[in-house]
This record gives sequence, C-alpha cells and structure tokens, in this order.
Amino acid sequence: MTTSSAPGKVYLFGEHAVVYGEPAVPCAIERRARVSVEPRDDHRVRVESDDLTLDGFTVEWGGPADEHHDVDVPSNLVEAATGYVDEALSQARDAIGDPEAGFDVTIESDIPLGGGLGSSAAVVVAAIDAAVRASGETIEPEELADRAYQAESTVQGGEASRADTYCSAMGGAVRVEGDDTRPIEAPELPLVIGYDGGAGDTGELVAGVRALKEEYGFAADTVETIGDLTREGEQLLAAADPDGDPGPVLLEELGDLMDFNHGLLSALGVSSRSLDRMVWTAREADATGAKLTGAGGGGCIVALDEGQATRRALEYSPGCDQTFRAELATEGVRAEE
Ligand code: PMV
Repeated sequence: MTTSSAPGKVYLFGEHAVVYGEPAVPCAIERRARVSVEPRDDHRVRVESDDLTLDGFTVEWGGPADEHHDVDVPSNLVEAATGYVDEALSQARDAIGDPEAGFDVTIESDIPLGGGLGSSAAVVVAAIDAAVRASGETIEPEELADRAYQAESTVQGGEASRADTYCSAMGGAVRVEGDDTRPIEAPELPLVIGYDGGAGDTGELVAGVRALKEEYGFAADTVETIGDLTREGEQLLAAADPDGDPGPVLLEELGDLMDFNHGLLSALGVSSRSLDRMVWTAREADATGAKLTGAGGGGCIVALDEGQATRRALEYSPGCDQTFRAELATEGVRAEE
C-alpha cells in the first residue's frame, strides 16, 4: 500500500469571486484526507471508504458489465463520491502513461464532506499522488496541483477555480488569481471552525451567483469589491511577521475584512440561516471577525479568536454540530507510512 495525505483548507477571503478572476486567499488546515493505493493486475478500480458518503461500502468499476459490482446505496451518492476518485485516477493514469492501470483505493478523511473545507480537493490531491507513487513514479507538487484542478474541474462541469486544489497540494497560505497561483507568507492565525453538519451544492451555488450577475449588472460590483477586500487582506498578511504572534491589531483588521466578506457573500445569496447564526454567535462571543468558508449554502464558518469564548459559544449554539480549532497546515500533500 502507498499512502498519501493532503490537507483541507479555509478561505480567509475571496471564494466565489475567484471564479470571475478576482484573487482569493485560502489557507491549508491540519485536517487531512488519507488515500492508500495498491496497483491491480487488471484495469479495474475498487474504492473502499467509511467517509465520502459511502459509509463503509465498497464500490468497484471498470470491469465488464456483468462483473460490475455495485452497492446498495442511491446511485447519485455513489456517483458524487466516486466521481472525484475516478477523475483523480484518470489523471494518475495519464501521469504514469498507462491508460489501463487499475487500482485498489482506500480513503479516510477527517474533513467534513462538502462543508467548505476542501474535502474533495484533498481526496483528489492525495489520490493522484498515492496512485502515481504506487506505480513507481513521482510527481512534483505543481504538476499535481494542476492535475487535481483538471480532475475537479471536470467533475464540477468546468466551474472550478485552482484555489482548493493548489492550496491542498502546496499547504500553507496561498494566493490564487485565475491561473496565477503562488504561496504567500502568513502568521499562525487563531482559526476557529463552526460546522452545521450540512453541506451546500457547490455547482448550484456557483450557478446561482452567475445567474444573479446576469440578472443584475450591479452584482458584478459586489464580486469586484470582494476582490478589493481580498487584496487589502493580502497586504495585511504580507506586512505581518510570519513567525511571530499576529497581535491584536492585525486580528481586528483581518476580522473586519472577514465580516465584510461574509456580508458580500450573503448579498450574493450563498449564505444560509445556520451559517449566519454561527457567524453571529462567533461575533457576539469574542471573535474579531467571522465568515462562511467555501461555496456556502451550509457547512462551515471560520472565525478569528485567540481565546476559548467563540468555541464555547459555538458548542452551545443550536445550529452548530461541531466546532474545533484549526491549525495552519504548513505541509501540503505528503507521503505517509
Ligand atoms: O466549498 P468548496 O470548498 O468546494 O469551495 C468552493 C469555492 C468556490 O469559489 C465557490 C468555487 C471554486 O471552485 O473556487
């Protein structure tokens, strides 16, 4: 077995606007997806996972129809979960130059699925890396990030930015603007996550923003303003000492921008009652700022708080299913024992 892991991420700034060429700043967090791969003698694929909505089921595909072993769960769930793995393995086959390669794949993940923490990107990045290495080849992080982006983009019908996959492959904080992707310096921020136990549909939410922009020209200004505040946030991060304590002033300033960002995402229609409730719970506790992270519609918020007040308040908040502190993951994809 060859195992790779890759981290999830939060968006400090810029989701949705990044789809229209504005910059975004995601940052990797120490919640990982681990993918183990064993090459097979035939060209079939077998995926086993307790996560990914497969709940302990095993899915196998790629053989003749009469051998095809399906599972007794709704096919749309299997499709959603396996779509990413299937595309990741296509990219791995292409990278190793063997279009017939078959794999046994086992997936474990401690990233809430579809909750805006980049679970699918982490699975795709780790799966490509593990499948390539299991075949005796290596792949550089930049090529891996690009292949993972191609895989995600195919599954999401062409509506994906490079942000999630690049961040998961590289680790740390990154900046993404169109095809321009690069790591940036950022201090360790006191990130608190609140998770409502749900998930939004990224494709639908991205399409909703596009429809709003088409109906109301001025919605484009909202998207541009998100770009402006992201640039402002980047400057704050660049001015901070990456190895030092962020300090109260920086946390206040970043928090204000996160609040502003959440308001604009809300205006674009991608927040939800539970996300808004968690954001307000965090702000009314001690957070210097809070916003939804990722596509929205449900899932996670990210707040800044050095103390315990925000976590405690979220723990007792009816709309919050889980809360945890997220450490910055300085390492992106990595080989595991
Ligand atoms: O919810 P996530 O982690 O899949 O993030 C989606 C981020 C969007 O900007 C809405 C789409 C994208 O591909 O950048």
